[in-house]
Amino acid sequence: MEYILYEKEAWVGIITLNRPKALNALNSGVLEELSQVLDQAKRDEVRCLILTGAGEKAFAAGADISEMRLLSREEGERFGKKGNQVFWKVETFPAPVIAAVNGFALGGGCELAMCCDIRIASENAVFGQPEVGLGITPGFGGTQRLARLVGPGMAKQLIFTGKNIKAEEALRIGLINSVCPQGELMEEAGRLARSIVRNAPIAVRNSKEAINEGLDTDLRSGLGIEERLFGACFETEDQRYGMDFFLDKNKDKQREMFKNR
Ligand code: CAA
Repeated sequence: MEYILYEKEAWVGIITLNRPKALNALNSGVLEELSQVLDQAKRDEVRCLILTGAGEKAFAAGADISEMRLLSREEGERFGKKGNQVFWKVETFPAPVIAAVNGFALGGGCELAMCCDIRIASENAVFGQPEVGLGITPGFGGTQRLARLVGPGMAKQLIFTGKNIKAEEALRIGLINSVCPQGELMEEAGRLARSIVRNAPIAVRNSKEAINEGLDTDLRSGLGIEERLFGACFETEDQRYGMDFFLDKNKDKQREMFKNR
């Protein structure tokens, strides 16, 4: 692939946007390859994905402005649809996705981080939706996901002003989960991924689905979704052995089993 690196260690996949000279800006090629690599990671049955950017400066500095400059109205809508389709694959990926945000996460870059399940950032990370300064709205889900993550008031302030915020402020408003020094970011992401993959994979996957689907509906329907996915865990080996080993007070065997599943 020209723009994406992919590696897999044990049950953890790492996808790196690899266009550092353009601060990993998202052109059609990056989007297409990201879509393909997500399919590959799904086939590999990874139990956690880490998504990051190459270089020291950027996670992704947004959709590619030079590619968008001369788009017609229809082409603009199609470009937004393409971004939304690929980001939807991230959102619904059948295992947790961690964004390791190692620098600028602007426009489409911030939107990409927001469709991940967990966001951790380095101290030099910068977040923002600067699109209105370019004469457009956020187009890869920013108007929807930012408002859901930080509330409509803060989302509107960030989008209407187009102002960037630093990692500490992003942490304060709940846009990200944690901040660490840049040199420790990937180790931190790896630690978090390992602490996820040592648990029962079907249970983790069903939890993600229950949270995501539940957030799209009212509480009563959400509880119905949880009941279905809770029920679907029963009769699995994970549930049978997981509970047997717990009752036998054999924690090591429990962990070992999930690791080797
Ligand atoms: N699209 C295309 N190229 C980009 C880019 C983008 N979004 N962001 C950076 N680049 C390119 C620059 O053009 C430059 O290329 P050259 O070396 O060929 O000139 C290279 O990356 C390095 O960038 P800078 O020289 O600008 O680096 P800097 O350190 O001075 O500034 C920055 C960094 C503040 C992130 C600045 O690059 C910047 O403001 N980038 C644009 C951010 C932005 O507006 N993003 C939103 C895009 S619109 C969008 O994403 C729509 C949507 O929702 C789908």
